[in-house]
Amino acid sequence: MRGILLAGGAGTRLKPLTLVASKQLLPVYNKPMIYYPLSLLMLAGIRETLIITTPEEQPRFRALLGDGSRWGLSLDYATQDQPRGIAEALLIGGDFARGEPLCLVLGDNILYGHDLTRLLRGAAGNRGATVFCHPVRDPQRYGVVELDGAGRPVSLVEKPKEPKSNLAVIGLYMLDGAAAAHAAAIRPSARGELEITDVLQRYLAAGELGVVELGRGFAWFDAGTPDSLLETAEFVRTVEHRQGLPIACLEEIAWRMGFIDRAQLQRLADELGGIEYGRYLPALLAQAR
Ligand code: G1P
Repeated sequence: MRGILLAGGAGTRLKPLTLVASKQLLPVYNKPMIYYPLSLLMLAGIRETLIITTPEEQPRFRALLGDGSRWGLSLDYATQDQPRGIAEALLIGGDFARGEPLCLVLGDNILYGHDLTRLLRGAAGNRGATVFCHPVRDPQRYGVVELDGAGRPVSLVEKPKEPKSNLAVIGLYMLDGAAAAHAAAIRPSARGELEITDVLQRYLAAGELGVVELGRGFAWFDAGTPDSLLETAEFVRTVEHRQGLPIACLEEIAWRMGFIDRAQLQRLADELGGIEYGRYLPALLAQAR
């Protein structure tokens, strides 16, 4: 499975923070926002990822993440010159995905919870499309899924005025090889975007949409507004302080997933050891013996 990480967009709701820097490069407590969705792809076992950015910001993403080899990853880059919607990422990434299954993740989505690795890896082999949903207080802001008594999807609506449930669809989508063809078949919405929800509706109509409901043991944020950016940072800080275990530490995940060996973890720890973010790595190295 390959990954597509969409980090484009104008970050309108975060202006003026985003006037000279991409939203996905802004800090969420102690690391750039993009580390969090990238860590989700890594936890799903994905090593080959296409990062889609605006043309102007691409050099900064490259400077931050490079070719990914330091984490045992292979990162490619592509651009989206206008915010024409999430589903356009499937068209931009068509050649990259080569008709293989893929996981599309939005660059501002942060997901935390127990056993996430098993959950993500479990969904990675599914037929059709699999989405994850989570209860929110303001479903009107999201794609909203309605489930029947057996947990099967009945309807899926983008930003409904009168939501049929409080279950928002998270910005992490497991899609089979037909994703690009579905994206090519849809038309822009009223807001002028190719909606991922329209792609998912095609899977739903074909009886090929699976939904995984994430319960109250999970925390999901999209850090697209000043309040949610701060809330997410506060959450990460609180959990990291209390547990002493980092969230979205790419070096740790790369090692735990077997993407890098102990020698590479040692090199990364040497580079980062003197700073707060890397403080945890020596303890990890002791375990890696
Ligand atoms: C997008 C999707 C929406 C999804 C949300 C998750 O919304 O269109 O279905 O629930 O991401 O963050 P947007 O960020 O485009 O408003």
